[in-house]
Amino acid sequence: MSSAGVAPVRKLKADHAAVLVFKDGPTLFAAATEEFFRTIEARIEESGVCNIALSGGSTPKTLYNLIAERAAKRNIDWSAVHFFFGDERSVPPDHPDSNFGMVRSSLLKNGVIPAACVHRVMSENGAEQAAAQYDEEVRRHFGGDPRFDLIFLGMGPDGHTASLFPGTQALQVSDRYVVANDVPQMKTQRITFTYPTIDAARHVLFLVSGADKQTMLKSLLVDKAPLPANAVHPTGTLEWYVDEPAASALTL
Ligand code: 6PG
Repeated sequence: MSSAGVAPVRKLKADHAAVLVFKDGPTLFAAATEEFFRTIEARIEESGVCNIALSGGSTPKTLYNLIAERAAKRNIDWSAVHFFFGDERSVPPDHPDSNFGMVRSSLLKNGVIPAACVHRVMSENGAEQAAAQYDEEVRRHFGGDPRFDLIFLGMGPDGHTASLFPGTQALQVSDRYVVANDVPQMKTQRITFTYPTIDAARHVLFLVSGADKQTMLKSLLVDKAPLPANAVHPTGTLEWYVDEPAASALTL
């Protein structure tokens, strides 16, 4: 699809974010794929390296498959691109709910991206230990405070993002980059980036697709609901890539 083919049909302005509305899911994911490659090429040009954090759930799988299909055709030194996870479930990597497992079967399926560049959460060690290990790996990788070039985020039906769920402890954490988060409403523990990690990013990109997201998207962007996805305030740029079915109630 030509770059003109992935142009948004509407551009809206929310409080501190640009909202790009694409006519449908395929166009949304094609545009996000181009943004992904654009970011990598620009950052490698500028700094020789690019650090990206991936979101989990079901929405990004289409994006990751598109990227995998196009990665080999792009003139990119993949050894200079490092992938982290914005959150992970407390399951082993081969569990059907594993975000790493979802990425392994999509983004990594063609073997173009070296395994050494994919920094997974060692979730099989239990949430507390896995979070402490990941916090240490993030600090070690950046030689201090993390500053991701691009962080993909999703939006849950309750307004959560990453594994920052309403009413949970992780929302208040400011002295660690990764924590284990008790999520009683899901009867589970998750491992998640904290706001300091997300907000330090050069570019945060929410991906929201489908009519089932329209009510929550309106709550967040129009009604400014005080929910976790609305508390993301990156020092860099914040964009929402949404498709028309998800954006049909947006009257910004
Ligand atoms: C996760 C995600 C989570 C996700 C939202 C949206 O591990 O589930 O990181 O924050 O992005 O729940 O999920 P869907 O894309 O499946 O709607």
